[in-house]
Amino acid sequence: MNPTVVLSYAIDLVAVLLLALGLKGLSKVRSARSANGLAALAMGLAVLGLLMQQQLSLEAWLWIAGGTAIGGLAGWLLAQRVPMTAMPETVALFNGCGGMASLLVAVAVALFQSTTGTLSDTAVLVERLSIVISVFVGAITFSGSIVAMGKLQGWISTPGWTQSPVRHGVNITLAVAALVGAVALPADPAGPVLWLLVAASTVLGIGVTLPIGGADMPVVISLLNSYSGVAAAAAGFVVGSQLLIVAGAMVGAAGLILTQVMCTAMNRSLVSVLFGGALGASAAGHVGGGGDEAGYTRITSCSAEECAMALETAERVVFVPGYGLAVAQAQHTLRELSKLLEANGAEVSYAIHPVAGRMPGHMNVLLAEADVPYEQLIEMDAINPEFPRTDVVIVLGANDVVNPDAKSDPTSPLFGMPVLEVDQARQVFVVKRSLGAGYAGIKNALFELPQTAMVFGDAKAVLAGLVSELRELGVGKKPAAV
Ligand code: TAP
Repeated sequence: MNPTVVLSYAIDLVAVLLLALGLKGLSKVRSARSANGLAALAMGLAVLGLLMQQQLSLEAWLWIAGGTAIGGLAGWLLAQRVPMTAMPETVALFNGCGGMASLLVAVAVALFQSTTGTLSDTAVLVERLSIVISVFVGAITFSGSIVAMGKLQGWISTPGWTQSPVRHGVNITLAVAALVGAVALPADPAGPVLWLLVAASTVLGIGVTLPIGGADMPVVISLLNSYSGVAAAAAGFVVGSQLLIVAGAMVGAAGLILTQVMCTAMNRSLVSVLFGGALGASAAGHVGGGGDEAGYTRITSCSAEECAMALETAERVVFVPGYGLAVAQAQHTLRELSKLLEANGAEVSYAIHPVAGRMPGHMNVLLAEADVPYEQLIEMDAINPEFPRTDVVIVLGANDVVNPDAKSDPTSPLFGMPVLEVDQARQVFVVKRSLGAGYAGIKNALFELPQTAMVFGDAKAVLAGLVSELRELGVGKKPAAV
């Protein structure tokens, strides 16, 4: 065998191992950054290995190098500029690009390079069926992801007709058209049915994503991520790349697991997300639904000074970060405050809800930016039993994830979603700018409990106020209590 080809297979093998290690490392905050680097290296090696097998001309190498430089620069610029709060949109865009790449590869092979022979030949049959899957799933992933990105960015709203049963009729018609194309394509891969399949699948991607509401969008994005893996694996069969098959299958499986985890954390069933369109919370979007200030009657508010005095004597403090902390970019000030409390002898931890913020792992990433020790980040199931022995809980820009109605009020749109049981703590301070609602757009019973006091203000300003109040009280200067 040609030594270059042997070397390319060795490179492929290394790439598969690195990719598997990368995926494993992503499961832990501590190793996630280096794991991402490993996975990126694996992708680079995979591309190199594949190109080495192709015996390309110099002109082809130049085209590829030019495309890589332009795409790489665009990706680098995007990564530099995108704020953490816009990460779901970015992920949706990347998923869309993945789907489109698989679609284009399959279309190119169908048009220009499909193996000649009859469908009784297994190799021909496998290639043509793989083209069908790659085109169908790739097109849905592409158009669905672009719609998801547009909705998250606020560029696209949910049209009224998509909330009526009409949409099922439209989507079924599109699915039947795609099915006709899929059945006919293997016999004539470069014929008009190819374009029927491309068009019907692309519009179907729009049709199924458009009705889905805002709160369900992260679930859809992780599902589309899984689809992009399936499309890539099918494209791997089309071009005969084992590496692409392995990588695509891994992404497909990882995306599916994440989808399941998110459905459980948000108390949604996948079927209701996909076929229910905008559900109660989703339809309400980010506003309204009884979460306005007029809905509250028994609110206690306090100043940063009073809150600081409670913190000064607290032995056990739990911070609950939420979306508002990310908006305020207050993670560094929070770290400063917790260092002061630790110097005062308090035991400090951070309660992490799986869907706090706007993307999976949002709070972990946010707090890691401020060098919060990983051991202090405690997942919901582990921290909930600890709240009854907690002196002070400070809720920072979190709302839905601490709403006790999710446990007790069957009429609440959040009912059934597991929440952080901060209402069990001795004293709770909720830091937010107003009595405005969270993502689900509903009232929060926590705000009216006797042990709760609201500290109104931007999270960063309030935290800075707490730091200066505690310094004035001499906290951090005196030796830690024993
Ligand atoms: P939310 O329920 O969205 O509440 C955030 C709160 O932060 C708001 O009530 C807002 O109140 C406050 N806030 C905003 N800016 C602030 C600032 N500068 N300073 C202080 N407070 C500020 O957040 P959560 O508790 O993290 O819950 C997440 C919600 O998003 C869940 O419903 C979840 O299902 C949904 N969701 C999650 C994801 C993922 S995967 N994590 C993705 C999409 C949606 P004020 O306006 O009064 O300040």
